[in-house]
Amino acid sequence: MIYTEIVGTGSYVPKKVVTNTDLEQVVDTSDAWIQSRTGIVKRHMTELENTSDLAYKAALNAMEDAQIQPDMIDLLIVATVTPDAPFPAVSQMLQHRLKLNEITAFDINAACSGFVYALNVADKMIQSGAYQTALIIGAETLSKYTDFKDRNTCILFADAAGAMIIKASDKRKIRSIVTYSKGDYEGLLSMEGYPLKVNYSTPTQPRPFIQMQGTEVFKFATKVLPKTVIKLLENENMTLNELSLIVAHQANRRIIDYAAKILKFPLEKMYVNIDRYGNTSAASVPLAIDEAIKTGALKKNDVFITVAFGAGLTWGGALIEL
Ligand code: UT7
Repeated sequence: MIYTEIVGTGSYVPKKVVTNTDLEQVVDTSDAWIQSRTGIVKRHMTELENTSDLAYKAALNAMEDAQIQPDMIDLLIVATVTPDAPFPAVSQMLQHRLKLNEITAFDINAACSGFVYALNVADKMIQSGAYQTALIIGAETLSKYTDFKDRNTCILFADAAGAMIIKASDKRKIRSIVTYSKGDYEGLLSMEGYPLKVNYSTPTQPRPFIQMQGTEVFKFATKVLPKTVIKLLENENMTLNELSLIVAHQANRRIIDYAAKILKFPLEKMYVNIDRYGNTSAASVPLAIDEAIKTGALKKNDVFITVAFGAGLTWGGALIEL
């Protein structure tokens, strides 16, 4: 039987920091409102780097962490809703830039759940025996689509990339992954059309932006987050107290707090970095996992659950031993 394990992680955020005070100059909001309603203090936004640039740097970081040479990677999946272009995919841009062999490379769009979807696909492709080593990336430049006149969304979304390398293993480390979607709620969080360039500069054209019914998405998130954790534990016949950490999609601090309360899980074991990065969609989970590992919040042999939810609507999670 072929199993999979994580052998390295990496991440990258653009240099420019946008604080809540900066946003007070742009929309009718306040640092106090943003902090109390979302937990966000600051976030990073790109100036000229596009999604493939952020993904490239996170990938290099993960390859160095895993001590993996380019010719060892035979599968590359990028989860993004903010590609540089409709085609070629970000994964092909990266395959060339990272000097990978002529391998299987493609993008996935499952919004904020995209990284968990990519992990599921890579895990199954390796388990089939056809692939050995996968580079999986979640990368977004959401600031390209953010309406800086809409205080409901511009305070939430930001830019980042996170990467992970998983390999075929005889140890059952990545244990259970689930992914779901419910298309009948597509209108709750959506964006029509694509301003693909980061420095979009044709203001005379109508420009599409992210549209979100925040309260409805909030209700959905607080329902599926605990449900997914319980499902993963049931799949593995495990209990909550065997988990070292839950690394949830960083969409809103209150969603994380609420899930901990519903699950009766210690709040200090819910990983939080939304205060520093905001909501970075598909990058959120791999960025948080990378940070949790690098800061020692997750250690070798720890068992943790990661869980994500987002537009689609989509959701999913994974139960993993490091
Ligand atoms: O990543 C994928 C999924 N996305 C999410 O998970 C997002 C989920 N939703 C949320 O995080 C929250 O719904 C928001 C942070 C977007 C909004 O928080 P809320 O507590 O649901 O606020 P609300 O939309 O119910 O608005 C409450 C009040 C309203 O004013 P009135 O009508 O009560 O006078 C809003 O106009 O807060 C107002 N408001 C703001 N005030 C200051 C909304 N945005 C802001 C703002 N600053 N930025």
